[in-house]
Amino acid sequence: MSLVGRQSEIRRLGELIGATRAEKGGALVLRGEAGIGKTALLDHARRAATGLQVIDAEGSEFESELPFAALHQLCAPVMTHLDDLPAPHREALRMRFGLARGAPDPFRIGLATLELLASAARERPLLCVIDDAQWLDVASARA
Ligand SMILES: Nc1ncnc2c1ncn2[C@@H]1O[C@H](COP(=O)(O)OP(=O)(O)OP(=O)(O)O)[C@@H](O)[C@H]1O
Ligand SMILES: [Mg+2]
Repeated sequence: MSLVGRQSEIRRLGELIGATRAEKGGALVLRGEAGIGKTALLDHARRAATGLQVIDAEGSEFESELPFAALHQLCAPVMTHLDDLPAPHREALRMRFGLARGAPDPFRIGLATLELLASAARERPLLCVIDDAQWLDVASARA
């Protein structure tokens, strides 16, 4: 689908993607009322991100009570990088995602997630697309 208008938003997204290709990361928050075209812009960003690895998560009203549902969705495609992490962080994520027994230290989860994404990004620049952030489960949003 080609977007009508939205020139300045498209330019900002293009700048972020260009910077990411040049290994200068960044973040952009899209805000707007219901139906205004946020998802359409995120879809545009996905299409524009040629050469980048794109991972995504979507907040869902029905999963907002499930701790770490969105984080699991985001990280699943890059879990192959778990072995690059220091053992305590690797174990924290494995426990969190039900791959190992035990309860992880919540403070490690955010750090371990950052390391996991950084490791994936070293292989190929990485774009994380998170839609409907207002419905993210709280634990994922914190991480
Ligand atoms: N710039 C645009 N040009 C043409 N069509 C658009 C544009 N932006 C949005 N649309 C269309 O308008 C409809 C609503 O857009 P979209 O789903 O992206 O809104 P949203 O902000 O994500 O809504 P919600 O808040 O419900 O998630 C879709 O059918 C989409 O294809
Ligand atoms: Mg939407």
